[in-house]
Amino acid sequence: MTSLTIARPDDWHLHLRDGAMMEGVLPHSARDFARAIIMPNLVPPVVTGAQASAYRDRILAALPEGMAFDPLMTLYLTEDTDADDVAAAHASGLVKAVKLYPAGATTNSASGVANFDNVRGVLERMAEIGLPLCVHGEVTDGDIDIFDREAVFIDRVLDPIRRATPGLRVVMEHITTSDAVAYARAQDDSIGATITVQHLMLDRNDMLVGGIRPHYYCLPILKRGSHKTALLDAATSGEARFFLGTDSAPHATHTKENACGCAGCFTAPVALSCLAETFEAAGALDRLEAFVSLNGPAFYGLPVNTDTITLTKGDPITPPASVDTGAGPVTVFDAGRPLHWRVG
Ligand code: DOR
Ligand code: ZN
Repeated sequence: MTSLTIARPDDWHLHLRDGAMMEGVLPHSARDFARAIIMPNLVPPVVTGAQASAYRDRILAALPEGMAFDPLMTLYLTEDTDADDVAAAHASGLVKAVKLYPAGATTNSASGVANFDNVRGVLERMAEIGLPLCVHGEVTDGDIDIFDREAVFIDRVLDPIRRATPGLRVVMEHITTSDAVAYARAQDDSIGATITVQHLMLDRNDMLVGGIRPHYYCLPILKRGSHKTALLDAATSGEARFFLGTDSAPHATHTKENACGCAGCFTAPVALSCLAETFEAAGALDRLEAFVSLNGPAFYGLPVNTDTITLTKGDPITPPASVDTGAGPVTVFDAGRPLHWRVG
């Protein structure tokens, strides 16, 4: 197969940032994706409906002439979040999900949740109105090894929350382990799970053997190869609960190539080329559309995009090594292997 036409994809987990960084990275998502779930971990975070509305306006104002893109907004859950404000932002159509960051789990998560009892009322309201909770699933306890933080979160936090809040729709964001795949598969259809490009292509050896590669450092951190295999099996299965969330997370290059480098891979410009390459190698190109274009809208109760994109296979492409933004250059994800599929 050298050409594949599919419904236009969406990205169900995207960091656009704000200001000059956002202006620089936004076109790279809008080129290929019709919609994206926009993460709210700005400084200060996007907590209220009014803040989400203003952020959405800033994104649309930064969109280049002639490009179409629908930012699906989220609210950042804090222990002070007002359930009425959340419900109003959902009822107006503005907000499509609420994001749970355990306090201290990742970039700009200081305002996240430490005591889950304090968000019980908001979660119950969300279950009532059918508003999904997007979960960064890692515990933050200092005594839990970084490679175990996702599996421990499922047992200690996620499963108890779901039992305490029947009907709550949950997206397990950027899953990285066979434990998460197994948990998702064992639940009813109130659970979805996003998977990133880098977790389908790389394992922790790629990041750490023969030198440390800061552009592969993200959270949750890359795991051992057997987990990558389980994620690939889930993504290529066609199962409705698994869909693409790139977690494309731009940081200026000097902040990653640093003694204390930031977490995040900037995959947006190459995401679909990477996925076509990966699905083809797995003998599953016919399942790519389900993963990138069909399963996400079904979970969120949104229509599939009516326009299409065509992926074409040819000589290896040469993506830019970095993208210039007003906030500095951002290194583009490079999995270290040739990419033969281009969009268009
Ligand atoms: O690697 C990551 N980068 N993981 C996250 O959870 C946050 C993100 C970011 O905002 O940079
Ligand atoms: Zn993220």
